[in-house]
Amino acid sequence: MTTETTGTAARDGETRRGGPADSPFVRACRREPVPHTPVWFMRQAGRSLPEYREIRANVPMLESCRRPELITEITLQPVRRHGVDAAILFSDIVVPVAAAGIDLDIVAGTGPVVAEPVRTAADVERIRPISRDDVSYVDEAVRLLVAELGDTPLIGFAGAPFTLASYLIEGGPSRTHAKTKALMYGDPELWHALCARLAEVTLAFLRVQVDAGVSAVQLFDSWAGALSEADYRRYVLPHSAHVLAGLADAGADGAGTRPGDGPAEPAVPRIHFGVGTGELLGAMGEVGADVVGVDWRTPLDVATGRIGPEKAVQGNLDPCVLLAPWPVVEAEVRRILEQGRAAPGHVFNLGHGVLPETDPEVLTRVVALVHELSARPQEARS
Ligand code: CP3
Repeated sequence: MTTETTGTAARDGETRRGGPADSPFVRACRREPVPHTPVWFMRQAGRSLPEYREIRANVPMLESCRRPELITEITLQPVRRHGVDAAILFSDIVVPVAAAGIDLDIVAGTGPVVAEPVRTAADVERIRPISRDDVSYVDEAVRLLVAELGDTPLIGFAGAPFTLASYLIEGGPSRTHAKTKALMYGDPELWHALCARLAEVTLAFLRVQVDAGVSAVQLFDSWAGALSEADYRRYVLPHSAHVLAGLADAGADGAGTRPGDGPAEPAVPRIHFGVGTGELLGAMGEVGADVVGVDWRTPLDVATGRIGPEKAVQGNLDPCVLLAPWPVVEAEVRRILEQGRAAPGHVFNLGHGVLPETDPEVLTRVVALVHELSARPQEARS
């Protein structure tokens, strides 16, 4: 593990200025000029990589999320292989919920499964607040990673209250989120109590990551697209807004900076993402993120019209396109870069996670293509 193989800026021959805080990824999140459009992939660390399958062969998923050395290695795998512009911490959205005292497992091929689903006020009481000590393995992994990654930024993440609540209430993945919505509509008081608790757990989990040195955070509200805009605003938005507001100054007061890093950096950029959220993009833009993630259903120029000119966008290649012949992939990458120009900042990504059957060589080619097609002359930088 050497920084030579992972440092994006070093690879591009740029002049070194401010480390990860001055990387193309962080600059795009902040809507600053970039030498090329940065690219990373949701679920870039995972089953599409043979080296991931090998290292995970005898380690259960949750266990692997609690071993700092393993987290570090898995997080670095896609950075080494693809030359992506950012690493994303290897973990899962249910890790902090398990740390808060909920008995759950991540079952291969299924996802999170909760032993006793949450249905009553007493169940909500079982969700304890968490502190750094409850997730010390994440704190340690982030510190190891920041040291390994050099100029390549590390993205921290957490699940948003609605998506976490859905797993807790359903007991596992759900197509309709029927039990979740039944509780939300039937007992709004209990619903808000549950989401308020989850928001505190999420905020504490993200603050641990920021304090340990991540360069950005992504709040995944993967299943928010199941709601109408009115219900999203009423039942979900205030809780996600509480999380993002709690990070508004995170990193700004020196948290996550190390001695010798120079002046304190501005707050870490916040990304907010969900699937099927075309109708919610305007509302999601009000939650408090700097970047709004967009799935493949909404073209990025249309998305930016809904989100407004104050936010960067992230997305939005359909992960299934990666299974098509290369000329199709190339045409779609071109289209997305073109439509992304309408936004004040664009981070190239998929519209959802990498599918396990994806050929990793195609991902590597996409990174190179995005960099090549979007390369801007140096003088374009401020
Ligand atoms: O993006 C990355 O590379 C970082 C790792 C990451 C994982 N989960 C690892 C993982 C991230 C960012 C997540 C977030 C996550 N987890 C979300 C939000 C993003 C999204 O996909 O919408 C959600 C909804 C979950 C819950 C979850 N965990 C699901 C739906 C699954 C997949 C079930 C399956 O096996 O298909 C998991 C398990 C999981 N999380 C895997 C990985 C690599 C697969 C576990 C394995 O390798 O056996």
